[in-house]
Amino acid sequence: ACDLVVLISGAGSNLQALIDSLGNRNPARIRAVISNRADAYGLQRARQAGIETRVLQPRDYPDRDGFDDALADLIDGYSPDLVVLAGFMRILGPAFVRRYNGRLLNIHPSLLPKYKGLDTHRRALEAGDSEHGCSVHFVTEELDGGPLALQAVVPILAGEGLENLAQRVHEQEHLIYPLAVRWFAEGRLRLGAQGAMLDGTPLPATGQL
Ligand code: GAR
Repeated sequence: ACDLVVLISGAGSNLQALIDSLGNRNPARIRAVISNRADAYGLQRARQAGIETRVLQPRDYPDRDGFDDALADLIDGYSPDLVVLAGFMRILGPAFVRRYNGRLLNIHPSLLPKYKGLDTHRRALEAGDSEHGCSVHFVTEELDGGPLALQAVVPILAGEGLENLAQRVHEQEHLIYPLAVRWFAEGRLRLGAQGAMLDGTPLPATGQL
């Protein structure tokens, strides 16, 4: 089995997609869901699925390092093989990121390296892009800059609005994140010295197969 800890801050629709992908010969299992917000709806999804939940609030810690250290200690109590960031909207410091090198995945709502940070759908629309999408990547110290594992491209439709585009990107997230996590759990996806590897072969730098 491959033990996961999932970190969330909000709605948890990616968490739900992961939950729904488990069982069925998928070797991954979620040991715990941790949120930095007590009101994250994803906590309810986890409880519904019988998964242990924990809340760790930044305001209870003096600074970023204090929070990150407490978070890492909490995570390590579950001895996970992989830590999955699923809409975790807090920047994790370099010490935390190094501690989980090669076993920390994130999903980001853009075709990285385009549109790191927030507000990605609006930025893609305002730029007049013809395509947008989402990316699963290993987390490194560079914010939203780690090696790509998998991307899904979403063509932008003529006259498309923000909400419609965001929803169509979200649907793709729900496909590629469970897939990438499953590959990791099966030992097929890993972080090598030169970047992400699938079945022992370097993945294209774009993450598009
Ligand atoms: C997702 O769109 C995810 O890509 C994004 O937050 C959303 C969470 O939705 N993550 C980031 O922007 C990370 N910087 P969810 O809570 O319904 O899974």
